[in-house]
Amino acid sequence: MVTAEKVYYYFRQKFIRKFLYRFGFGSPVGKNVWEEQFKNGAWDYLYSDTEALHYKSIVKFYNQYGGGSVLDAGCGQGVLFHYLKPYIKGPENYLGFDIAENAVAEARDKFPPYRFVQADFNISTPDEKFDVIIFNECIYYFSRLIEQLDSCFAKNLNPGGRVIISMFYYAEHAQLWKRLTDRYTFIDWEEVQNESGQKWRICIFKP
Ligand SMILES: C[S@@+](CC[C@H](N)C(=O)[O-])C[C@H]1O[C@@H](n2cnc3c(N)ncnc32)[C@H](O)[C@@H]1O
Repeated sequence: MVTAEKVYYYFRQKFIRKFLYRFGFGSPVGKNVWEEQFKNGAWDYLYSDTEALHYKSIVKFYNQYGGGSVLDAGCGQGVLFHYLKPYIKGPENYLGFDIAENAVAEARDKFPPYRFVQADFNISTPDEKFDVIIFNECIYYFSRLIEQLDSCFAKNLNPGGRVIISMFYYAEHAQLWKRLTDRYTFIDWEEVQNESGQKWRICIFKP
């Protein structure tokens, strides 16, 4: 059953990326698919050194532009938190949320007493405000990118707060970057590339 769902979402995602990104549509993937992937350890490789560069870039921007409390959207099993933890001043200053209960359960086991909760950003975000909201490799899964970002900022960002977005490099993501730069003025951004040639772009802005 989940395999059929996976195949469905794979082709749906390809279609949306090629034809619908430019009109503002994102490509949500079903909860069951994520649950199975985290159960099978499909994302464990994110802890590897080849993935470290973009996490370090996020942490660099976080510290360089004021630090503070963090909402980690689509936090997965807590890989970003692993890099951020030395700079977070206590459990009240961090909240990770993810659609997959399997992911946040793993994060809670690994990083007590820090907070990781299940929530679907296509439905609602947590009822709390933060100094920084981070979206690491997850904005592709928003159903309507700019509308959802704006309502998340209104609900979850403290006055003067900052937003960090990181995306893996795919040609189709140029459409997403354009929508972001049309709407927000970046304070800073950079591209990082690992030894295998994989690239990420990371930006920070105040909405
Ligand atoms: C490529 S992984 C990145 C994970 C994490 N940000 C990290 O840095 O390790 C994408 C994450 O987005 C989460 N995700 C996808 N759709 C979501 C949704 N609608 N609401 C919340 N999280 C979602 C997935 O469960 C997954 O953990």
